[in-house]
Amino acid sequence: MCGIIGYIGDKQAAPILLDGLEKLEYRGYDSAGLSLLDDGKINTIKTKGKILNLRRRVDLDYSGDSCIGIGHTRWATHGKPSDINSHPHSSFDGKFSVVHNGIIENFVTLRQDLKNEGIRFRSETDTEVVAQLLAKHYNGDIKQTIMKVLNIIEGAYSLGILCADYPDEIWAVRNASPLIIGLGEGENFLASDITAVLKHTKEIYQLNDGEFCCLKKNSVQVFAPDGTPIEKEKVTVDWNVEAAEKGGYKHFMLKEIMEEPDAIAKTISPRLTDDNEIVLDDFSLTKEKLENIKKIYILACGSAWHVGMVGKYVIEELTRIPVECDLASEFRYRNPVVDENTLAIVISQSGETADTLAALREAKSRGAKVLSIVNVVGSTIANESDDVIYTWAGPEIAVATTKAYSTQLTIVYLFALYAAKLMGKIDKKEYDEIIAAIRKLPEQVAEVLKMEQDIKTIASRYVYLEHAYFIGRNLDYAVSLEASLKLKEISYIHSEAYAAGELKHGTISLIEDDTFVCALCCQERLFDKTMNSIKEVAARGAETLAVITENCPNPGEECDHIITIPSTHPLIMPSLEVIPLQLLSYYIALSRKCDIHKPRNLAKSVTVE
Ligand code: G6P
Repeated sequence: MCGIIGYIGDKQAAPILLDGLEKLEYRGYDSAGLSLLDDGKINTIKTKGKILNLRRRVDLDYSGDSCIGIGHTRWATHGKPSDINSHPHSSFDGKFSVVHNGIIENFVTLRQDLKNEGIRFRSETDTEVVAQLLAKHYNGDIKQTIMKVLNIIEGAYSLGILCADYPDEIWAVRNASPLIIGLGEGENFLASDITAVLKHTKEIYQLNDGEFCCLKKNSVQVFAPDGTPIEKEKVTVDWNVEAAEKGGYKHFMLKEIMEEPDAIAKTISPRLTDDNEIVLDDFSLTKEKLENIKKIYILACGSAWHVGMVGKYVIEELTRIPVECDLASEFRYRNPVVDENTLAIVISQSGETADTLAALREAKSRGAKVLSIVNVVGSTIANESDDVIYTWAGPEIAVATTKAYSTQLTIVYLFALYAAKLMGKIDKKEYDEIIAAIRKLPEQVAEVLKMEQDIKTIASRYVYLEHAYFIGRNLDYAVSLEASLKLKEISYIHSEAYAAGELKHGTISLIEDDTFVCALCCQERLFDKTMNSIKEVAARGAETLAVITENCPNPGEECDHIITIPSTHPLIMPSLEVIPLQLLSYYIALSRKCDIHKPRNLAKSVTVE
């Protein structure tokens, strides 16, 4: 993954770059570095470890006051995390310095060819090839040189390039890895995403694949892949700076959990009129088009895929269109049955996940219409979709998603209802009931959040867990998948989710004294069924925690712990039941002293395959 940043202006570059890298640390945090241009010489400072280590190194080793530089925070793919493998990478003659996010797929051959020509490599990275190629092909004209190198390298990359001969310019390239250009007054920026520059500007250019540009203090010139200058349209982002700060919370994850009522309200309220109509702006799916849809594929990765699992139940229930929820990484490499009567619903917080984007392109190339549910405005997935419904969650920084998941759920409900109504598949009474339930969600989520202290106490019992199982039926099963992922990704406890009815087909053999089983029993009509599963595991010694609604009977001594949450329409229940489970994961991870902000080996935005 990795995060890249660049600055050119009148201010000292180092503090701006370091600050921006801290915002990008969610993209990778095993090493970091800066290159700064002082009097025609490039100074590079880089180190293994987090940005804090880099800050210390800059304080110790750098005394200049350069106003132009590039920076990088790394999530290792080629070469282990080390000082040498950290970016930026320099060319053999010291003329070029490069930061890169993505993968240069043909780097092995290129590296060998360059080695055969006598060029010595310092690192094990694919990126160093770019720096060496730039130096090799340099003819005094930087634009021509960059274009030549772009014709040689293959793969996914966003690049920031400094050249010692051009002390007033930074060059940036985008190809299948995210990159935005931040436009300031007398200063300009490049960054992997807007949060890194939000403090300085809200005006950006989104580059398309293959485009590259030259940043000067007072201008940004964007070029098409063939070198023709192009006019770009400015996009204004309406996120505020505070949204990307911790605001007194210990971790972004907790802050973002607490923001859920607000994020849900912002996502739903502009879309609901006083007379219960759902308004989806610029939506091209008419009644006729919807009626022609024979199949829906939901395509996503990680937690977004778990939203899709909820979507499968909800959309099928309301519209009666068959829905398959597919992992984007699987869909892209099989031979899916897709045609012009297929709708692909693509769900992604970042709008940049490589597998999700590839699945979108695969579905589109086979004739499907694409509707995406995305948080980041102007992201690649949003740009390439026929229709987009944005989740107005604001910037989500924590690697473990919470508010993006919750807002994605609400969009799924709204879409399903909208389609069902347009197609005449839902009666007014049920439609109004579900809309009323959706309107009430922010208030009910806030009510669940008041249970924070109780959940913290319950979490303190599970500090030493080694294994956890989450079970549920129907929508409870879909939420179990997310609850289980949340726990494992930040607390490193081995955890699995099972459809409760499936337990007895194998997994029950793993249950022994004190095995932790969390049963989600929020689909009230299935309460007795899931209770039976609880009894089965309790009889084999499991320690059980049940999440039930206020309408469920008291499970009594069958359960060691019970979390009781408010009730709502069954299709909307996932939005309430996931909240205590997000808090539970957070507090278990906290008591295990895990690095919640930077979970081991994970990054938030997975822009490589
Ligand atoms: C990573 C994140 C997950 C996220 C997934 C998909 O694995 O850690 O939280 O669900 O990517 O990301 P997207 O941006 O496409 O929603």
